[in-house]
Amino acid sequence: MPKNFMMAAALLAAASAGHAQDIDPHALYESACAGCHRAHSGDFVFESMTMTGAGLEGKTTGKLVADLLGAGHGRLSSAETDTLIAHFEAINSGGQLFQDKCFICHERAVVLSRLKLVEEDGRLVGRYTGRDIQAFLHEHGRLTLDEIPIILERLQSQMQ
Ligand code: HEC
Ligand code: HEC
Repeated sequence: MPKNFMMAAALLAAASAGHAQDIDPHALYESACAGCHRAHSGDFVFESMTMTGAGLEGKTTGKLVADLLGAGHGRLSSAETDTLIAHFEAINSGGQLFQDKCFICHERAVVLSRLKLVEEDGRLVGRYTGRDIQAFLHEHGRLTLDEIPIILERLQSQMQ
């Protein structure tokens, strides 16, 4: 196979992979799903999906969410479907982590997000304390470094 062709194919693959990462899952959920489902993706994942060995499943339909979206529900492209599924999975694992490490003191993530936090330029900030929450979580809640972005996503998925 000609070398140039291989390079073009590799570039193309890199370009389309980059494209999938450019999709903002929050904006996508809002425009494609929130009209019929819950306003916040965090609420939707929490109430309507459960994690199975095969992936996230709809609680009512018993269908894999990836299959449902792949079959045209919500009219997404396949890159958009991948982005949204990854987003839902992140919210789901964040929910479990919250259950393990935060619930004992904070009860529900939704209450913490909506009563105590605000979003400023895409960052979570304490509504009354002005704290940068990402920095705060380095010393609060016994999270590992890997877990901090997962919890941030969880909290952010339930903001206005
Ligand atoms: C035009 C309205 C509409 C839009 C837009 C829409 N949905 Fe739905 N969706 C529905 C309805 C109605 C059901 C219920 C079907 C049922 O229960 O059989 C449903 C069911 C589901 C389920 C299964 C829930 C369960 O408990 O089993 C999932 C998951 C889902 N939708 C995800 C999405 C996602 C993600 C989007 C955006 C990409 C989306 N939907 C866009 C109307 C919509
Ligand atoms: C042992 C109890 C306890 C645990 C466990 C705990 N917190 Fe807290 N958290 C508190 C208390 C008490 C406050 C309020 C006092 C303060 O602001 O310092 C607070 C405040 C916060 C705030 C608000 C900060 C602000 O500026 O308003 C956030 C966000 C937060 N916690 C997130 C978490 C997360 C995420 C977890 C789990 C990883 C967690 N907390 C685990 C007790 C706890």
